[in-house]
Order: sequence, then structure tokens, then C-alpha cells
Amino acid sequence: MLPLLLLLLATAHGLDRLQYKPTLASPKLGGVTTTSTFVLEQPRCVFTEMQGNAVIWLVVAVPEAVDSFNNSVGPGTPERAFQAFPASAPAYMTLNTTLLNYPCPKPAGEITVLRVGSETSCTRDETRPTCNGPLPSPGPYRVKFLALDGSKPVAETAWSDPITLRTAQAPSNIPAMGSGHSAGMIALTSILSILFAILLAGLVAMLVFWGSDACGGSSTFSKPEAVTVQRYNTHHVFDQPAAQL
Ligand SMILES: *[C@@H]1O[C@H](CO)[C@@H](O)[C@H](O)[C@H]1NC(C)=O
Repeated sequence: MLPLLLLLLATAHGLDRLQYKPTLASPKLGGVTTTSTFVLEQPRCVFTEMQGNAVIWLVVAVPEAVDSFNNSVGPGTPERAFQAFPASAPAYMTLNTTLLNYPCPKPAGEITVLRVGSETSCTRDETRPTCNGPLPSPGPYRVKFLALDGSKPVAETAWSDPITLRTAQAPSNIPAMGSGHSAGMIALTSILSILFAILLAGLVAMLVFWGSDACGGSSTFSKPEAVTVQRYNTHHVFDQPAAQL
């Protein structure tokens, strides 16, 4: 018990609590939150040269885990593994980088953001517990940046406000037009069946006319054609001998 207490005191000492609170990127950017990702402003001019050797991690936690969060549980451990979040890990740690990648001051006009949840290749790969994988639900989530020197926490930001992601439209919200089919697919199927019916009707009509034509030319369709041809031939045949005579 005593060693644990000493360890807690040792880690609490020297932890720089920064006022900065992580925030979502400007909505002007568009797509700041999707159903499985969100975009944060990079923590520029937040950590100082005092954390020059440290690795800066992003901690993503369920809100219930924030009050009792233990900075000493390191990244990559089962309790901080992306693949175990949030079922058996109340938080995960990802997007580790050094101060060099968050240069200060930030160049004017440069877009300096981090997309959380963008890495799909390691979603189920338990050998990559620090995966920046897609978030499993709309949340809400709270995040903070934590600087570790070796395994020692040296600085942290405040926790963000709760971040809630977009909700995918539930199937029950789509007008009930048959289970599992989208309205678009149903419309397309209907149009195709109507077109097919018209085509079939046309084909049947053509066959009927064609059939009656072949069986003796008594239909109203074939008569005018036959008459025209006969008249032309008659005229032609009578003309020529007349010219020769
Ligand atoms: C981030 O962490 C991973 C796994 O712990 C490590 O392999 C990688 O080198 C680290 N990257 C940086 C920039 O610290």
C-alpha cells in the first residue's frame, strides 16, 4: 500500500496541468464530426520546451472514466487498448507524436487539425492497441492530451467538453417500404419493371401485326402499303411503253 501511495505521489508531482482544453476544429472546415470520426485542433503552443523530450498522446475516454482517470496506466496496455474500448477499456491512447510535430507559432492560414478515428486497417488488430480506429458509437467522448516522458506523465491538458458524433439514420426512420430495402432501390425496381412491361407489350403488339400480315394481308396495316406499291408499278409499266412508241 505504501509503495503504491509513494508512486502516486511521485507521479502526481511534476505533472504540469495545462489550462488548454482540446476543441473540435472550426465548423468551417466541414465534416468536423461523422458517424465514426471527429476533427480536433492540434495542440499548438500548448506544450512547452519543458516537455521537449516527451511523447504527446491523445486520450479518448468515455465521460464516466474522466473523474477517476489514472495517467499512470500507459498506452498499449489492455486497459488503454483501442480494440477493448469501451467494453473493457474505459479509454484508449492514440496519435502519439512529439512536440516537433506541433510547432509553435502555427503558420497563419495553415490547417492544423487531427482526425480522430481515421485509421481502419487496425480496427481489430490487437497487436496495435494504439490504433486511431473508427469510434464505435456516437459517444459522447471526452479527450485530453497527455505528455509522457518515458512512462512518466509530465503534462496534461484539461478534458474536452463531451463530443457527440453524428447518428446514422436508423432503419426505422426510413418509410416502411419492405424490410431491408432502401426507397431508392424500390423506386428503381418499379421503374425497371414498368419499362420491361412496356417493352413486352410492344413486342407482343409487333408479333400480332406481323402475324396477321403474313396470314393473307387482310389487316388494315398491310393494305395501304400494297395499294401504293401496285399504283406505282402500274403507272411505271404503262408509262414506259408509251414513251417508246
Ligand atoms: C507511437 O507509438 C508506437 C507504439 O507505441 C511507436 O511504435 C511509435 O514509434 C510511436 N511514434 C512516435 C512518433 O512516438
